[in-house]
Amino acid sequence: MKTVHVNVSRGYDVRIGQGLLQDCGRAIRSVTDASAAFIISDENVFVPYGRTVMERLQGAGFLVDHYVFPHGEQSKNLRVWGDILEAMCAAQVTRSDVVVALGGGVPGDMAGFAAAAYQRGVDFVQLPTTLLAAVDSSVGGKTAVDLKGGKNLAGAFHQPLLVLCDTDTFRTLPDRELTSGFAEVIKYAVLEDGLFSALDPVPSGEALEDVIARCVSIKNDYVSADEFDRGCRALLNLGHTVGHAAEACSGYRLLHGEAVAMGLAAIARASAVRGICSAETADRIVALLQRYNLPTEIPFSVPELRREMLRDKKRSGSELNLIVPEAIGRCRTETVPVGDLDAWLRDGGVS
Ligand code: NAD
Ligand code: GLY
Repeated sequence: MKTVHVNVSRGYDVRIGQGLLQDCGRAIRSVTDASAAFIISDENVFVPYGRTVMERLQGAGFLVDHYVFPHGEQSKNLRVWGDILEAMCAAQVTRSDVVVALGGGVPGDMAGFAAAAYQRGVDFVQLPTTLLAAVDSSVGGKTAVDLKGGKNLAGAFHQPLLVLCDTDTFRTLPDRELTSGFAEVIKYAVLEDGLFSALDPVPSGEALEDVIARCVSIKNDYVSADEFDRGCRALLNLGHTVGHAAEACSGYRLLHGEAVAMGLAAIARASAVRGICSAETADRIVALLQRYNLPTEIPFSVPELRREMLRDKKRSGSELNLIVPEAIGRCRTETVPVGDLDAWLRDGGVS
């Protein structure tokens, strides 16, 4: 098992290893005196893993209740979030209880935001079951739901008490979901030196645990320096500004990681055209994405992408901040006037 400590205002451990769900009751008991635990999950995850988690929590002396919603981004909305809060109220969850998020980024973000809002804040624990949630969404305390106008537009910063990533759960994860998670892994490999070479060949088993721990450690570097996302944490959005736009253009049929892969490829190509990085750097990024069978061409037009990019919540007036690679292991923010966006997208290979 690997442990990474996240150094925020109220720090916590992220534990990564096989079989961690089997011991989750004891692990959660070690960080809380709560008398009850309220599990929030989706049905794809709750069916194979819910019973184990409930039994282990009961074994550790928690009264246990749960709320399970239909899987997928379509559930990440205010209606389902409201249903979760009502279910917590009906189950008489109190401020001294603990919420347990079991699943990928969707249950994690929803449960985290419910925990942030319910009675003005209840503790919560993350049990990520996708690679994407393990390396990104379960760590750092960003919680949210989508609004009709865009993704993650309502939310709160609420750090978990503990993150337990049981890598055995990846065995039931569909291949497409696992591949999508590797896009975020490749993002970290471009942000900081040392990880890129560990990604070829594709890591599995203990090597994958090492890679996840390395990603969490890189995320900790940014989150601990800028917990509330006012400065350097923005670099974690590498590939995301174009990626989020592609995701929206697809009507959320693209998985988050697939869209991030497209965004990474586009920003790398555009950075090479503009002399921000070398052509070799851009080629290495695109080749690594392709090694993982991730998409690197964007099937949407410049006007379609521009329309979605202008909705980006990080846009400030007539400028947009894009995160660009200067080299593998070195990225920075480039402030781009909205009027230059089309040229950037075309340089990124969008037609
Ligand atoms: P997800 O939670 O929808 O999981 C993807 C699919 O895999 C779902 O159908 C789910 O039911 C299924 N699944 C999950 N674990 C499984 C398992 N072990 N076995 C079988 N099936 C399983 O999505 P995701 O890709 O984990 O996360 C994407 C979400 O995370 C997006 O909403 C994105 O906005 C959010 N996100 C948040 C942050 C953050 O910092 N909070 C960072 C990145 C992404
Ligand atoms: N996923 C980006 C962040 O946590 O800031």
